[in-house]
Amino acid sequence: MSAELDELYQSIILDHNRRPKNFREMEDATTKADGMNPLCGDQLTVWLKLDGEQITDVSFRGQGCAISKASASMMTQILKGKSRAETDKMFDDVHALVTGHPTGADVGPLKALGGVSRFPLRVKCASLAWHAMKSALNAVDGAATPVSTEGEGPGGEGA
Ligand code: FES
Repeated sequence: MSAELDELYQSIILDHNRRPKNFREMEDATTKADGMNPLCGDQLTVWLKLDGEQITDVSFRGQGCAISKASASMMTQILKGKSRAETDKMFDDVHALVTGHPTGADVGPLKALGGVSRFPLRVKCASLAWHAMKSALNAVDGAATPVSTEGEGPGGEGA
């Protein structure tokens, strides 16, 4: 990756960290779930509002590093208006990207997270909000569980 691209991606991440989008609780959410990174203890909560199969609103709050916050912030932007099927695919594409096996699918500004695959410990940070989001979606079907990124990164089998 060129130095210019690295710089661009870094500035996208820092910008989302400074001014995270949809960083709020959602009172009228359909579902929510908590996620925790066991390596650092950081936690965040993701709220989703659904209209049938479509996600109409996404928000998050919590504590985390710049990568986890930027990933959560970009996630809330990209998932708004998506169907559950599109969301599942986006989860898989982003997971593949941050673990160093990009599918080539268009993940928009989330491309900026591709660099974390070079830093295995950071994979848990980048995927934290995504696992919480997936757990929140599963909760709609009655299978709510708080998640952790335990299985991500070194020593884990991934998720
Ligand atoms: Fe805690 Fe990244 S260091 S989420």
